[in-house]
Amino acid sequence: MKLLTVIGARPQFVKAAAVSRAVARWNAGARGEGIREIIVHTGQHYDRNMSDVFFEEMEIPRPDRFLAVHSLSHGAMTGRMLEAVEEVIVEEKPDAVLVYGDTNTTLAGALAAVKLHVPVAHVEAGLRSWNRRMPEEINRVLTDHAGQVLFCPTETAVRNLEAEGIRDGEGGARVYLSGDVMLDAALFYAGKAPEAAAVFAGEPLLSDLSDKSFALATVHRADNTDDPERLSAIFGALSEIGRETPVVLPLHPRTRGRLAAAGIKAERLFPEVRVIGPVGYLSMLALLSACKLVLTDSGGLQKEAFFFGKPCVTLREETEWTELCGLGANVLAGCDADAVCCAARDFASKRPDFSAKPYGEGRAADGIVEILAGLDMPAFFGRTP
Ligand code: UD1
Repeated sequence: MKLLTVIGARPQFVKAAAVSRAVARWNAGARGEGIREIIVHTGQHYDRNMSDVFFEEMEIPRPDRFLAVHSLSHGAMTGRMLEAVEEVIVEEKPDAVLVYGDTNTTLAGALAAVKLHVPVAHVEAGLRSWNRRMPEEINRVLTDHAGQVLFCPTETAVRNLEAEGIRDGEGGARVYLSGDVMLDAALFYAGKAPEAAAVFAGEPLLSDLSDKSFALATVHRADNTDDPERLSAIFGALSEIGRETPVVLPLHPRTRGRLAAAGIKAERLFPEVRVIGPVGYLSMLALLSACKLVLTDSGGLQKEAFFFGKPCVTLREETEWTELCGLGANVLAGCDADAVCCAARDFASKRPDFSAKPYGEGRAADGIVEILAGLDMPAFFGRTP
């Protein structure tokens, strides 16, 4: 079968790395028809340290097509991607299109495919924050409702789809509880990650750090970065925490831009907050394994913190990964500086349960590939092969 993978943003490279490795394993095992994967990179993330470094470190096959669509408003970005992906689908005639997560790239890939009657497979289906102000929430709801093959990372995600009337086998959609491919990636690449000491040595601002001596933070959600009050409250909280425990902040370009616009100078935050550039996946894993606490508004990092047994303070009012809160591993603190500092301090005396396995066993990608290889794709749109 011919599988067209559409990716473009950093978290998608991590997920696609796990699935592309499983495609290679499937083809090597020759247990059935092989899968020819064609990778389309929309260009949404384009800086070397937001894109190329992931392909190199994670040995993701080089994209077959690069669409160079980025730095536009939501409508313009999604629209141009839609047009460009459509052209690729018409030329390549894939049996299915594979999309990941909840970015503008995801929605564009799904819409282009479904309108051409090419089945859409969605990895990370069924997640909901129930916050329709988030562009990601709109992208994931629409992608799930347009999709034919929905791979849910958690039982909660399956139930979320059911609540919206999407059930396995009904109305033509297939719904699978696949587990989370991010766990596959974390388990595999942790063995390839450098020692944290090597990361500290490579960054002058981190040279005095050691294991368990720092908190790791990321901030990039539009809801946080595009509201100057929220942004300055979050940076106030990070600086406050940094008085007791240095905070390492690999800064997303969106946030760097918004900080500058809000008159907050990143270098002035030093020494409490150590602002460095975006880091590759392997360095991120090294920092995760060495930190004592994670503070983030990212979805993926909340789970990665859990994989590494680190407590997480989430800088949002809600999360798609509600099971982490139930296990006591994650606290939603929003952007209120007192709440963030309190949550961070409280973790010193808490013992969250990191032994649960809400995301599977780390073999989600093999299961996904086996299902894709076995499905009768033309039947989804009433065609005979
Ligand atoms: C996007 C996703 C978000 C995901 C995040 C991961 C959407 C709606 N949002 O948000 O779900 O969690 O990626 O990082 O799709 N920029 C650069 N260099 C880059 C990439 C981006 O300078 O390599 C700049 C862009 O020009 C833009 C800003 O960063 O000004 C935001 O980029 P964009 O891709 O629109 O959204 P993200 O905030 O990265």
